[in-house]
Amino acid sequence: YADLKLEIVGHKHTEGLLQYRLKIEELIATISANFINLAPQEVDAGINRALKIIGEFGGVDRSYVFQYSDTERKKLDNTHEWCAEGIEPQIEKLKGLPVNHFPWGMEKLERFESIHVPRVADMPESANAEKELQESQSVQSFVIVPMVYGGSLVGFLGFDSVRSEKTWTEEDIALLKMIGEIFVNTLERKRAEERIKHHVQRLTTLHTMDQALISSLDLHVILSIFLEQVTTKLGVDAASILLLNSQTQKLECAASHGFRPETIASLSVHGGKHHASRAMLERRIIYVSKMSDIKNSPQFAELLEGEKFIVYYGVPLITKGQVKGVLEIFHRSPLNPDHEWLGFLEAIGALAAIAIDNASLFEGMQRTQEELMLAYDVTIEGWSRALDLRDKETEGHSQRVTEMTMEMARAFCVKEEELPHIRRGALLHDIGKMAIPDNILLKPGPLTEEEWTIMHKHPEYAYQLLSPITYLREALAIPYCHHERWDGSGYPQGLKGEQIPLAARIFAVVDVYDALSFARPYRAAWQEDKVIEYIKSLSGILFDPRVVELFLKFLDI
Ligand code: C2E
Ligand code: SIN
Ligand code: SIN
Ligand code: FE
Ligand code: FE
Repeated sequence: YADLKLEIVGHKHTEGLLQYRLKIEELIATISANFINLAPQEVDAGINRALKIIGEFGGVDRSYVFQYSDTERKKLDNTHEWCAEGIEPQIEKLKGLPVNHFPWGMEKLERFESIHVPRVADMPESANAEKELQESQSVQSFVIVPMVYGGSLVGFLGFDSVRSEKTWTEEDIALLKMIGEIFVNTLERKRAEERIKHHVQRLTTLHTMDQALISSLDLHVILSIFLEQVTTKLGVDAASILLLNSQTQKLECAASHGFRPETIASLSVHGGKHHASRAMLERRIIYVSKMSDIKNSPQFAELLEGEKFIVYYGVPLITKGQVKGVLEIFHRSPLNPDHEWLGFLEAIGALAAIAIDNASLFEGMQRTQEELMLAYDVTIEGWSRALDLRDKETEGHSQRVTEMTMEMARAFCVKEEELPHIRRGALLHDIGKMAIPDNILLKPGPLTEEEWTIMHKHPEYAYQLLSPITYLREALAIPYCHHERWDGSGYPQGLKGEQIPLAARIFAVVDVYDALSFARPYRAAWQEDKVIEYIKSLSGILFDPRVVELFLKFLDI
């Protein structure tokens, strides 16, 4: 890039400017080509490479990307950086910067304006925090452009000049903006793909557990496989299962994973008895986060001291109304679980309870396909509740629309063997929204065009998520096709009339009916007669007229 730099020295001259524009086009083309089809794990390296290219091209000392922290929009992290030779890297120091410390800069960025400061020394009083930060890095001049996705600020891209003062032209800033756009699209795609991968992993975990259910009749082997999966996939350090001895009514350790050998011996003696008993008696997940709380139970404290655990979960294992035991989770650093994590923990608890119940009930007997399906379905219902929670759906939305869809499907004489697939599909209808960022999904107002583009992808995400899983493949009709419309104006495929699977045609009416009847983050609930009017008026347009007719009959109208 040495010749590129020479070009810039001359680019203030008119003939140089034309050259410079050509170079910019070449640069953008190179970088875009580089980013197409980058696998998620290659994205960070790709961005670092691009920062070096534009940093050298722009003749600056440092080029960098900041993003809002994953969990909250209150902090900013320096996520990518390139430094010229002899320039000290800053990236490690610039993590978790509180956004509210930088009102001057953030206000501009939130308005999607760039910040161009040719002399840090001349920054206004109101920009003191930004000035201090830049001076601490010996920055003399800098330029920052916002990175925007789906109509929201997600971070920014910037250049620093340390060794000299520097002024940037409109062209330079336009270039940065274009690069920022390429970065943001790539980063968001990576985020969506990772979220989906995470969920596929969880489905696979449950599948592995089910395999253990079929292939092994020995409860201890089953539970050991469970715990191995549980600790890896929940990302926790250790776990154990205590079983309730029905004769003595005491909890006994039946399997453990992740403990030191000397602890294992004492686990079966006292285990987490105090908290585990509470989980069992109160029939709810007990969460203990502080060491002091854990220490309420003296023998337990001794056990934990040695292992340096600071987080504990006790999950009651309940099936057919009976407590079978307690699953215990231990971790050495703080956990920040979300709804999904907790939903997954609950699902694992349900699965473990069934395994224990089966093993003790049918000792030595072959497990039937039916029981296996029951285990899947308990799991799927757990997820379905977790999905409603994230979507801020009204309590029971997925359950209600599933029941209505099943009744209607029966009335349409759908084959008996297809009904379980329809049931699973309805429960998971909006699973694709997992990949939609919170700021869009939970936005209180109407969506912008860009946000709609992203929202419209949720059926495709469902397809990507569910199609690799054999036992859910036949459940895809609803998650993939529930936004198709009778007149062909729907998404994602624009199917028309009877091209749309019947289950999805039925589901569309039921889902819209239930969605409109309750408040959503973006609007208040509608009155029932308005909902009915709406559905009637769009019969034969959005909805299959036969479905609407039957639906109204069901509602007694
Ligand atoms: P959702 O809230 O579960 O709604 C499912 C479907 O019910 C919608 O599919 C639409 O067909 C119908 N529906 C729900 N609310 C209304 C409404 O107020 N008016 C009308 N005419 N129909 C309604 P659609 O439109 O494809 O939307 C899919 C998803 O996109 C929604 O799922 C929701 O998560 C999101 N969404 C839709 N509109 C907005 C909005 O204005 N703001 C936000 N933040 N999200 C929206
Ligand atoms: C800002 O948020 O405007 C300043 C952050 C920085 O310059 O690193
Ligand atoms: C998630 O389910 O996407 C994250 C939950 C976690 O593993 O902490
Ligand atoms: Fe949907
Ligand atoms: Fe829905």
